[in-house]
Amino acid sequence: MIDTDNVTCDTCTTPSSFVFDASDEVSRGWPRVDIGLNPYKSSFPLLAQREDIAFLDSGATAQRPACVLEAQRSFYETMNANPLRGLYSLSVEATEAIARVRAQIAELLGAVDERGRARANEVVFCRNTSEALNIVAKGFAPHVLKPGDEVAITIMEHHSNLIPWQQACRAAGAKLIYLYPTKTGRITDEEIAAKIGPATKIVAAAHVSNVLGVENPIAKLAAAAHANGAYMVVDAAQSVPHMRVDVNELGADFLAFSAHKALGPMGVGVLWGRAELLDQTDPVLTGGEMIDSVTEQGAVWAPVPEKFEAGTQDAAGIYATGVALDYLVNKVGYDAIAEREHALVHYAMSRMVELPFVDIIGSIYWDQHHGAVSFNIRGIHPHDVASIMDMDGACIRAGHHCAQPLLTWLGVENLACCRASLAFYNDKYDIDRFIDSLNHVWSVFNG
Ligand code: ALA
Repeated sequence: MIDTDNVTCDTCTTPSSFVFDASDEVSRGWPRVDIGLNPYKSSFPLLAQREDIAFLDSGATAQRPACVLEAQRSFYETMNANPLRGLYSLSVEATEAIARVRAQIAELLGAVDERGRARANEVVFCRNTSEALNIVAKGFAPHVLKPGDEVAITIMEHHSNLIPWQQACRAAGAKLIYLYPTKTGRITDEEIAAKIGPATKIVAAAHVSNVLGVENPIAKLAAAAHANGAYMVVDAAQSVPHMRVDVNELGADFLAFSAHKALGPMGVGVLWGRAELLDQTDPVLTGGEMIDSVTEQGAVWAPVPEKFEAGTQDAAGIYATGVALDYLVNKVGYDAIAEREHALVHYAMSRMVELPFVDIIGSIYWDQHHGAVSFNIRGIHPHDVASIMDMDGACIRAGHHCAQPLLTWLGVENLACCRASLAFYNDKYDIDRFIDSLNHVWSVFNG
């Protein structure tokens, strides 16, 4: 158990309510996509076979298209060997397959040199976003934090981007400072100026909140961090599935995401870091394949990124991740994803606000939700809501969403809420099933 009492943080200010302040934000335009049509579902075997469900939990993990499932299988069928930079052709082929995905991800994130070549050595493979952020908090932060320094995070962080910083601060005697948003989830310039200053050494923030669905102003946070000589760490787990993510535009020094939320397999995570910072970062896992040389009493690490990749990697998973990202970015495309997801969220939220027993948590404006819409039904525990909705074939997540400090700050009853999280492969019929089920839940308790 983590002893959070030993972590210093500034005073939490709980908002008087999380009812929305319509004057706080401005909604833009109306999405124009026919969500009654679904050109995607047939490419996703699970969705194609399960017409009885509406899968609305893509924030937890995405469904995978057939090409990703086939890629995983084809790795084992056609190139299976340990990618040990081996001396026989099958192993070389596996090694090269991994190298190609590394370069693909560097290009995707905009990590290229002045001649446009991928800075592939800045891409580290690990298991997931949590592990990637732990590498930064455990391997890099001790080099820059000393007693009295500050790490600034937002109250919206997933525990993956919160607990590692609690521990890093505790180890260094540093303070963990929280940035709080407006009631609609917006971090203001004033809040940034108030919380990021000369004592700040690291700023870590979710690009998109997994609960509120809101996009955080990472470029502004990074500018404030850099103006004070601090580093910017971005949790992009909930943004890579929905929008183009460019480390230069964001001003990121480190950035993490998980393949499984972006149509790839579970068990593959990506840490991107600026090469000179990865050089300074200690490996968190040691052992096979991460060394240059070993003596009885010591070892010399391999260069980045291999020094972070101890043991045999999930090579088939990494290979399939390349196929998943190619499908997401090139076959579907971020423009089409944004248009369609905004149309879906718009339709869902416009139906939800018609239900007087539903309280939306976060902004009431559809264009400020990137996939996720959290809510509660008055007087009904979120676990009961999710269980009844399951009977209706509506798959949603209920609970604290690994964001307990956020739910505490919001004052959400039972420290739990429901979340529908959408992806481009959803359609109008999924939303209709969801809305019908919300009405059903209400009638079960109030019928
Ligand atoms: N981090 C995932 C979510 O928010 C599991 O649902």
